[in-house]
Amino acid sequence: MSATQAPISRFVAGIEISAIKEMAMRSARVEGAASLSWGLPSFQTPAAIRDAVTQALASDPDIGKYALPDGLPELRRLVAEVHRDATGIEVDPDANVLITAGNMQGLNALLHVLVDPGSEVVLTDPGFASHVQQIRLCGGEPVFWALDESRDWALDVETLPSLLGPRTRAIVIVSPSNPTGRIFTEAELRRVGEIAREAGVFVLIDDPYSHFTYENRSRCFNLSSVEAMREHLAYLFTFSKCHAMSGWRLGYMIVPAYLKREVLKVHDATLICTPRISQVAGIAALSGASPHVHEFEQTLARRRELICQRLDALPHVFDYVRPQGAYYVFPRIRVAHECSREFSIRLLEQARVSVTPGAAFGPRGEHHVRMAYCVDEDTIERAFDRIERQFGQG
Ligand SMILES: Cc1ncc(COP(=O)(O)O)c(C=O)c1O
Repeated sequence: MSATQAPISRFVAGIEISAIKEMAMRSARVEGAASLSWGLPSFQTPAAIRDAVTQALASDPDIGKYALPDGLPELRRLVAEVHRDATGIEVDPDANVLITAGNMQGLNALLHVLVDPGSEVVLTDPGFASHVQQIRLCGGEPVFWALDESRDWALDVETLPSLLGPRTRAIVIVSPSNPTGRIFTEAELRRVGEIAREAGVFVLIDDPYSHFTYENRSRCFNLSSVEAMREHLAYLFTFSKCHAMSGWRLGYMIVPAYLKREVLKVHDATLICTPRISQVAGIAALSGASPHVHEFEQTLARRRELICQRLDALPHVFDYVRPQGAYYVFPRIRVAHECSREFSIRLLEQARVSVTPGAAFGPRGEHHVRMAYCVDEDTIERAFDRIERQFGQG
């Protein structure tokens, strides 16, 4: 009897695992590789959060049980408070807040709600690689909205209306941006909101990095603080980065009530609920003073200085725009190469340094690489010592 393979859905067959994870897996196979490819911070989950979970494990008989699909009421209440303090917007914990297993899961659920086969979703180009795959998984098509590299990766707001049509369902915004580190301005974001409302297009804010803005705090603007956007926007926040909780899989979304009802169907059908133990960790993260957030930011600020200094010494290899926020830098490759993927694989094989090919972040990312400087200083130094040996000093 010949072995037959199961037919694969065309949506699944049409996507790939993100190049970020592909490079992480490749570099795990290279002994002693210095990895700048994955945005996985070196920080440990803070002790106050771990202690609260230890206590709950010892004393809470429900800790191992399902939670209600939209999340623990105490966590949703805290989320509403944090959101009000950050944006001035009052939201109802029952009607508007849903606890997710991180922004990837939250966005995936939302896209399933918004996207039909053939629908279009606008993404910045370059933008976060996984958004492309998530849209295609729903049968949708990403529409690439070019950032302006000559203006340090600024949004080109005037080109946005030409990208919107009858099939457009949403625009996704990440600011500070992954992979460029750009913080989009308040004026730009307000204009995006106006254009989206006029066109009847929904805005999805994916926010992992707004706590990492360094000297640019006052420039970082949250479009969900605009009252007029209330019914036109979903705001997704993740605990992964600023609370060093990437493995706990925890985030939340704030959405109009009608949309929460729809998202809950997808959430229930795929996950039932976000793990209760992670929600208990989230309650601890939002209840305390969270001094770790500032400490992480200060450490990342030092690492940003280090990586910029090391890049400054290699002008013959890389040209780069100094990142304003998040923890990525997205240099253009100046040495001879075929494409960013070939460059990245060669760098890993010959110099044992792992970076992510820029093409993974959209067509305008070609001939760039993304470097994550959330890893410890030694790894940054080792990676650049090896790059210097590979290409010579500037
Ligand atoms: C823009 C963006 N969205 C989502 C994620 C993943 O977030 P989470 O861990 O909450 O799923 C990342 C992680 O790198 C990211 O950069």
